Amino acid sequence: MIDPSPVLTIDGPSGAGKGTVSRIVAARLGWHYLDSGALYRAVGVAAGWANLDVSDAASLVRCAFDTRVEFVDRAENGLRVLVNEVDATEELRLETTGALASAIAAIPEVRLALKERQRSFRRPPGLVADGRDMGTVIFPDAPYKVFLTASAEERAGRRHNQLMEKGVSVIFDDLLREIMARDARDAQRAVAPLRPAEDAVLVDTTGIGIEEVVERVLGLLPVSHRNQ
Ligand code: C5P
Repeated sequence: MIDPSPVLTIDGPSGAGKGTVSRIVAARLGWHYLDSGALYRAVGVAAGWANLDVSDAASLVRCAFDTRVEFVDRAENGLRVLVNEVDATEELRLETTGALASAIAAIPEVRLALKERQRSFRRPPGLVADGRDMGTVIFPDAPYKVFLTASAEERAGRRHNQLMEKGVSVIFDDLLREIMARDARDAQRAVAPLRPAEDAVLVDTTGIGIEEVVERVLGLLPVSHRNQ
């Protein structure tokens, strides 16, 4: 049997820096990148466009199967996410979309609907997969697993700074409350709850700069991968 492409899973709570770290690590390795949260967010956005009710599980599951999601690199505009052919990049990043995605992600059949789609991102020369259950459910056989954490205050602070830079004014305490509520929902759901895989390496990013986190993560891989 041909060896499957190597996968580096990077799981953790919202705002731990997974997205930024995963993108940089994938670029340094020359590997593909899966932003699994964007898939759940895309289903949330498509469900919103279709006016689906969050309590209507059957329609949400159908929506998860039917929603087309494409990641397109538009050099000058960066990575764009198309949902059913519509550029939804900005809408996907909204806090309200994140909260909706988190509610939808608690439905077991929705997770099942997205399972194979996530696995199809595994291609040579390798994949960096960012999410909540990459190491536990989607790629349990991944040779490299990281669980990124940071205190809730630090994560809310980072999010606060990002939004302020974009000119969006938000109250820190509201963000902190939202982050804690989302963490609790993600950690307590019955299916694929947020937790480190047994063989994951825990990296606490509180007080550490992105570059150092990237170096620590890259340091977990054999030199042969890092020199590609
Ligand atoms: O990572 P991101 O904040 O974009 O994810 C949005 C929501 O999607 C999370 O709060 C979580 O509920 C859900 N999610 C998930 N499993 C993943 C990725 C995201 O349940 N692998």
